[in-house]
Amino acid sequence: MTSSHPPLRSYGRLKSRTIKPRQAALMDTLLPKLRVPAEPFDPRTLVPGAAEAWLEIGFGGGEHLAAQAARRPDVAFVGAEPFQNGVASALRHIDEAGLTNVRLHDGDARELLERMPDASLDRIFILFPDPWPKARHHKRRLLQADVAVELARVLKPGGRLRFASDWADYVNWSLERLVATPGLKWTAEQASDWRTPPADHVTTRYEEKRLGDCAPVFLDFVKT
Ligand SMILES: C[S@@+](CC[C@H](N)C(=O)[O-])C[C@H]1O[C@@H](n2cnc3c(N)ncnc32)[C@H](O)[C@@H]1O
Repeated sequence: MTSSHPPLRSYGRLKSRTIKPRQAALMDTLLPKLRVPAEPFDPRTLVPGAAEAWLEIGFGGGEHLAAQAARRPDVAFVGAEPFQNGVASALRHIDEAGLTNVRLHDGDARELLERMPDASLDRIFILFPDPWPKARHHKRRLLQADVAVELARVLKPGGRLRFASDWADYVNWSLERLVATPGLKWTAEQASDWRTPPADHVTTRYEEKRLGDCAPVFLDFVKT
């Protein structure tokens, strides 16, 4: 995916309202300790003794990230999010829950994927990504064919990818690209598999707003 041009922005604002003082303090003190290395690294080595490595792309306020990391202290959980208010909120969740198994990239996930070796992740989550509904903005959607190839590359055989959206057109767009990606196999067998939230799913306040044009759809893939 390396190219001489940076990819188009797939996210909106980098910052909105003023970050509360406590969260701003965590940006200064906790974030530097949790940042992933700026050079190539293996996510499995970030947390000593971790049995697995999971990645959440675009974690928003970090509710899903923190809840999953709390459930699975044996997992090194990496999160990528360029929106500063989201990172600040995630730091609050991490701090309040005393989580020691989370590492963060406060930037574009596509730069992060490039730094990870082949077959180094057990799970990847992309939940309710920015839909960019207007046709002229579709090129800003995160789930482009080259990104799907990168997701397949960094997943271990047997590793799993979850994509969720409540925008029908983005669901179809992503499904088209993911099923066409060598090494990714859609696990659904019947409609309830994509219509019912998976048992291990954690709903965020963003998801609850139901801003899309359809009920949430969950696409689970396995790396073959
Ligand atoms: C609509 S929000 C959903 C947040 C969260 N996943 C949830 O369900 O609550 C999508 C998030 O993806 C982030 N995002 C967009 N492009 C990204 C990229 N290239 N790398 C990492 N995060 C990205 C945005 O900043 C935004 O916070």
